[in-house]
Amino acid sequence: MKMLELDPAALGQVGMYRFLISTIVPRPIAFISTISPEGIVNLAPFSFFNGVSSNPPCVMVSITRKSDGDKKDTLRNIEATRQFVLNTTPEWLAQQMNQCSAEYPYGVSELEKVGLTAVPSLRVKPPRIGESPVQMECELYETLEIGDGSMGSATIVVGKIVMAHVAESAWKDGKATFEELKPLSRLGGLSYGKTSDVFDLPRPKAE
Ligand SMILES: Cc1cc2nc3c(=O)[nH]c(=O)nc-3n(C[C@H](O)[C@H](O)[C@H](O)COP(=O)(O)O)c2cc1C
Repeated sequence: MKMLELDPAALGQVGMYRFLISTIVPRPIAFISTISPEGIVNLAPFSFFNGVSSNPPCVMVSITRKSDGDKKDTLRNIEATRQFVLNTTPEWLAQQMNQCSAEYPYGVSELEKVGLTAVPSLRVKPPRIGESPVQMECELYETLEIGDGSMGSATIVVGKIVMAHVAESAWKDGKATFEELKPLSRLGGLSYGKTSDVFDLPRPKAE
């Protein structure tokens, strides 16, 4: 392979953002519900997200600053209430997920705007999304600041799962089946992917 050399200093913040979102692919999409101290439900998608650990059971999401340097509503709510629900994003929620990424003013409930169903959680205040096949109720475990707070900086939020819910139809032999979850993935730019052409590889022994 003939390789290009890309110096982060030369690419700059926007160039590095484009590099990251187009090379770290596909990414799963967390659809995160939070609630403000005033009780307004907020909903937004985040693809810089992953599992972290199983003891304690933790997930992480990276929430970047807005273009004016302000914190996003999701982060404001998590810092204020220390709780959130991580709903997975199936193919059938693509339109609503995308609509929720619009910059609504603080205090506007995206969940109501896009007509999704708020289902009460068992252990945290933010509701779950009834249309999502996996919902993880989380308590804030830790935050880690990356950068100086200017555009491109982020807060890594680590949440501890205190209750999980999975669609009965998707749960077989102690694990979820992706055929039922139909996970939507984010690719570079405006592209999204569906999961197909799947194959298994048995774990090898050291030789
Ligand atoms: C598929 C997708 C993935 C996204 N991933 C992230 C992400 O990982 N981190 C982030 O800060 N914003 C991400 N965004 C942008 C946020 O969803 C957007 O800034 C949203 O307005 C934040 O809403 P809030 O202010 O209600 O928290 C993503 C948007 C889309 C459509």
